[in-house]
Amino acid sequence: MTHEHEKIKAYLRKDLPVRFDFREEVTSTNTLLKQIGAAGEAEGYVMVARRQNSGRGRLGRSFLSPDSGIYMSVLLRPKMPVTEAVRITCAAGVAVAEAIREVTGREAVIKWVNDVYFSGRKVCGILTESVLSGDGSIDYAVLGIGINLETPEGGFDETIQNIAGAVYEGKAPEGAREQLIAEVWNRFFTYYEDLKSPELSKKYRELCFLTGRDVLVYETTDGQSIGKPARVITVDDDFGLTVRYESGETETLVSGEVSVRTV
Ligand code: ATP
Ligand code: BTN
Repeated sequence: MTHEHEKIKAYLRKDLPVRFDFREEVTSTNTLLKQIGAAGEAEGYVMVARRQNSGRGRLGRSFLSPDSGIYMSVLLRPKMPVTEAVRITCAAGVAVAEAIREVTGREAVIKWVNDVYFSGRKVCGILTESVLSGDGSIDYAVLGIGINLETPEGGFDETIQNIAGAVYEGKAPEGAREQLIAEVWNRFFTYYEDLKSPELSKKYRELCFLTGRDVLVYETTDGQSIGKPARVITVDDDFGLTVRYESGETETLVSGEVSVRTV
C-alpha cells in the first residue's frame, strides 16, 4: 500500500466498497475509467491522479489539471434510467461541499448543477458520464471530480483566472489532500445508497447559492444564444432548477440542456 493510500485509509469509513488506483499523470481519469468499465470491472473502482493532461468538462470543454489539484473518478453500476444520472452529479456536489467544510471549517456552496464554489470562486467541477446498455438503462457510469486544492505555481491559467479558485491559497496543510479525498467518498457513498432520498435533495437545495439570484439562461445546444434573464426560485427534488422569466412565466430547467450564469 502506498503512503498516500495509508493516509487516506486513516480517514476512510471502514465499510466503504472502494478500491484505489493511484496514478501520477493521466490523460483523464474519466477517460481511463470508461475503458476499465467497458472491460467489465465492478463498481467501486476509484482512480486518483496527481495531474491530467487532457482533463475534460462537459461538451468537450477542458478542465485544467495541474498538480496542485485532486483529480479522481469512480466507476458505478447504478440501476436507473439515464435520465436520473443527474442524481449522481448532485450527490457528489453535496459530498464535495460538505467535505470541504469538514476539512477547512469554512462554507462551500453549489452552483447548479455541477460546480462547487468556495470564497466566490469555482474550486470543483463534476462530470458524470453514462454508458448505456441495449435497453436504454445505464450499463455503467463514471463520476469524475476535480478539486483545485492549492493555487497552482504562477497562478491559474489566464483562461480561467476570473472564475477558478483553490481550497487553499498557496500550500495545503499536511494531510488535507488525503482527508479531503476520504471525506468526499465517505459522504458520496452514503448518498449513493439512496439517490432519491428527499434529504439529499434538501441538502442540495440548501447548498445551492443560485436561489433568489438573477441569472441568464443559455441554451447550451446553441453556441450563439443570448442569455434569457430570469430569477431562480428553487431546486426541485429531481434537481431541476425552477426559474421565473421577466414575462412572469416559470420553467423548470433540466441539467444538460441549459447553462446558467449569474448576473
Ligand atoms: P456551465 O456553467 O455551462 O454549466 P461548467 O462550469 O459546468 O459549465 P463545463 O461545461 O463542464 O463547465 O466545462 C468546464 C469549464 O470549467 C471550462 O469551460 C472552464 O471555464 C472551467 N475550468 C477549467 N479548468 C478549471 C479548473 N481547474 N478550475 C475551475 N474551473 C475550471
Ligand atoms: C466541470 O468543470 O464542470 C467539470 C469538470 C470535471 C473534471 C473532473 S477531474 C476528474 C475527472 N476527469 C476528467 O477528465 N474530468 C473529471
